Amino acid sequence: MLPAASLLLEWYDRHRRALPWREGSGDPYRIWLSEVMLQQTTVAAVGPRWRRFLARFPSVEALAAAPWADVAEEWAGLGYYARARNLHACAQAVVARGGFPDTVEGLRALPGIGAYTAAAVGAIAFGREVVPLDGNVERVTSRLAAVEAPLPGARPALAALAQQWMEQPAARERPGDFVQAIFDLGATICTPRNPACALCPWRQGCEGFRTGLAPSLPRKAAK
Ligand code: ADE
Repeated sequence: MLPAASLLLEWYDRHRRALPWREGSGDPYRIWLSEVMLQQTTVAAVGPRWRRFLARFPSVEALAAAPWADVAEEWAGLGYYARARNLHACAQAVVARGGFPDTVEGLRALPGIGAYTAAAVGAIAFGREVVPLDGNVERVTSRLAAVEAPLPGARPALAALAQQWMEQPAARERPGDFVQAIFDLGATICTPRNPACALCPWRQGCEGFRTGLAPSLPRKAAK
C-alpha cells in the first residue's frame, strides 16, 4: 500500500521542527547553504553556523566575490575544506550564469553539487518533484516497504519507492514540505534505534511495523 502523502503532511504541519532555513522566502542560496552544511554536521550544530555564515556572506554574489581565505575562515570547524572550496566555486558559477538554475539537471551541473544536493535544493527551493536520498529517507523507505536487501545495493530500489510516493497529488502540491516531512519523520519518529512507531502518522500501512522488522532496517552489507 502506498503511504498517504496527505497523512505525513498533516503530521508535518502540526509537528514540523522550527529550523532557521525553513523561515523566510525560500531563497535558494540559503537553502543550498543549509543542505551543504547538513551533509556533514548535525541539525543542532548547523543552526548557529548557518546564521553566522549568512551574516558574513548574505548573498550568493557576496560569497562569490569573497576571497577564499575569508570563506575558509568562516568554514573553520565545519570540516572538509574541499566542501568549502566547492561551495565557493559553485557560488562563482551561479553568479556567472546569472542565478541558480531551477531544475534538478541544471543544479546537478554546477561544480560540487551532487545528486543529493541537486534534489534537495530542487525540491525545497524550486518545488521540483524529487526526493533526495539521505540516511533518513533510506531508513523510512526501507521500513515502510520492509526492504530487507542491504545497503548500498538497495539504494536504487529505495530511491524508486520514495519517488513513487512523491507522485501522489498531495506530495506534488508541496514537494519541499513532503521531503522535509520525511526528514523530520526520520529524525524524530522513525529513528535508527527504538523508533516511536506508536506516534507515527504512517504506522498503518507500514510493513516494517506490521512485521516487526522496522527497528532492524535498513540492513547494511557486511564490509
Ligand atoms: N537534513 C538535511 N536537510 C534537511 C532539512 N532541510 N531539514 C531537516 N533535516 C535535514
